[in-house]
Amino acid sequence: MKLSDNKATLSFSKGGSSIELPVYHGSIGPDVIDIRKLYAQTGMFTYDPGFLSTAATQSAITYIDGDKGELLYRGYPIEQLAVNCDYLETCYLLLYGELPNPGQKKDFTDRVTMHTMVNEQMQFFLRGFRRDAHPMAIMTGLVGALSAFYHDSTDINNPKHREVAAIRLIAKMPTLVAMAYKYTIGQPYMYPRNDLSYAGNFLHMMFATPCADYKVNPVLERAIDRIFTLHADHEQNASTSTVRLCGSSGTNPFAAIAAGVACLWGPAHGGANEAALNMLEDIQKNGGVDKIGEFIKQVKDKNSGVKLMGFGHRVYKNYDPRAKLMQQTCDEVLKELGLENDPLFKLAKALEKIALEDEYFVSRKLYPNVDFYSGIVQRAIGIPVPLFTAVFALARTVGWIAQLNEMIGDPEYKIGRPRQLFTGAEKRDVKTIDKR
Ligand code: ACO
Repeated sequence: MKLSDNKATLSFSKGGSSIELPVYHGSIGPDVIDIRKLYAQTGMFTYDPGFLSTAATQSAITYIDGDKGELLYRGYPIEQLAVNCDYLETCYLLLYGELPNPGQKKDFTDRVTMHTMVNEQMQFFLRGFRRDAHPMAIMTGLVGALSAFYHDSTDINNPKHREVAAIRLIAKMPTLVAMAYKYTIGQPYMYPRNDLSYAGNFLHMMFATPCADYKVNPVLERAIDRIFTLHADHEQNASTSTVRLCGSSGTNPFAAIAAGVACLWGPAHGGANEAALNMLEDIQKNGGVDKIGEFIKQVKDKNSGVKLMGFGHRVYKNYDPRAKLMQQTCDEVLKELGLENDPLFKLAKALEKIALEDEYFVSRKLYPNVDFYSGIVQRAIGIPVPLFTAVFALARTVGWIAQLNEMIGDPEYKIGRPRQLFTGAEKRDVKTIDKR
């Protein structure tokens, strides 16, 4: 970051000397006011719940312009990456900063492929869960448990350990998600196959059985690869910030990523794709397209607690560029599977059209986010609704690990320790129990 010749001056209405705060430029995006010395100089903290105006870190990985609806991974627009690169090339880009040449791509793909199996003991660990456990509960446990299986890559301060942990996490996540799925439906786990692509292998582990040949459908393979690419990173969102905060204590990478998985589960974040599909199914059950008006009325009523899931975003105040790409993929997949007349897809399109024309949504700049269509695609492919967020976690793992490794390598990195505005009781004396 570059020091700007602009400076911020902070003064107080009740007098006292004002202070000057340095301002820094990034390469693109808003400047930041450096408040690191604010407490030492004024005895005051800043107050910013939800981090609405706070940059918690500098980062060179992902840039979002929410007003333009622009998403760049290492400078490359998501629209170009989604069309010209596959997911593993995108992973390489996020981790190392540049797109791979053919040799680098082969080497990286080989390394990931050679780590797709998980320790055989993990299936016994998995067996401890109830069969009806939510996949995200299982994933939080399994990812955290990796640190108990791969001791030789748990030292966050060792660059070799960080590198191996990154490869292991990217390689093993599809295996773990597929195992969690097979476990809940009582089918045997399918071992990974090295002759398949990353996305093809995931489809194989999910949908093959030992009894029959399974042929990967190239349209579905491309769709899965695109879902992975679109979800690979998204700068300092809630789960990524969780991974950074958790990792800032020096904990091992598997533990930090497990924290990210837990955060992603929430319906305001990764759980939105599951929530969006459940919402569409509910509307469909209660009258479908004819009931959209009634549903929108409920959404606009603050007391109803109903939200249009898959709409709105903290950063995008324009169309989420990933939603457009996901809508194309949705068209392709439904056509391939002969589901063009899928009532849920029609309902989603009608709902989107009405919401985009409605004053409530227009004035609040609420547009569809990536999750509005990703649920329909996944459902059409045969992925069960409760597994959607686990697929998102699989895809986001590379972003989490790239951001974690960037933080550890940053000379300004410190343990994350927010401060607070205390509003509780002042100091008081404890009464013994007979006097309370
Ligand atoms: N439906 C109805 N109203 C909404 C929605 C929605 N989906 N999203 C925001 N609003 C309204 C809010 O009620 C608020 O209205 P007000 O100004 O009258 O009080 C206004 O729009 C601004 O919204 P905030 O909640 O203040 O925005 P914030 O940035 O805090 O929230 C969030 C963003 C959490 C994503 C929100 O839009 C939401 O809950 N959306 C639905 C869940 C969802 O799809 N999440 C996925 C996010 S993308 C991802 O994680 C990959």
